[in-house]
Amino acid sequence: MRILVLNGPNLGSLGRRQPEIYGTTTLAEIENDLQAQAVALGVDLRFEQSNHEGTLIDLIEEETGRCQACVINPGALAHTSLALADALRGFTGPVVEVHLSNILAREEYRRTSHVAAAAAAVITGAGASGYGLALRTAVQLVGGNTTEPSK
Ligand code: DQA
Repeated sequence: MRILVLNGPNLGSLGRRQPEIYGTTTLAEIENDLQAQAVALGVDLRFEQSNHEGTLIDLIEEETGRCQACVINPGALAHTSLALADALRGFTGPVVEVHLSNILAREEYRRTSHVAAAAAAVITGAGASGYGLALRTAVQLVGGNTTEPSK
């Protein structure tokens, strides 16, 4: 199983960007942790981060048919981008949206996500560990096994 892991605008600055809201873990640390989890689950991941809506849409189109699921933190594009949501509707497998902060408990303009309407599941407010939850959810939705072998 291959899964696309996308991060949208400003998520490349995690660790130094508003740490009181988004924590101090960098995107590289999140990706390293996810990669270790993916190895344990027997899943291949492709990681990409872009500050550009069109680049994210191009990546979704490119990986449609190659990846069986998509984990995405769209950043602020969640709240604004119908085009990104439409691209995800055209994606071949389940989409799991993840946000570090709880967007439902923040400013009014963050409480709506266009991407959520195109997603099978949304994980919001679990911090950096939300990415691992999103990965496991994606694997389960595709029908994979998320039980790691006992040591
Ligand atoms: C975010 C929430 C968005 O509202 C915000 O624009 C981000 C980060 C999160 O992970 O909590 O860039 O997606």
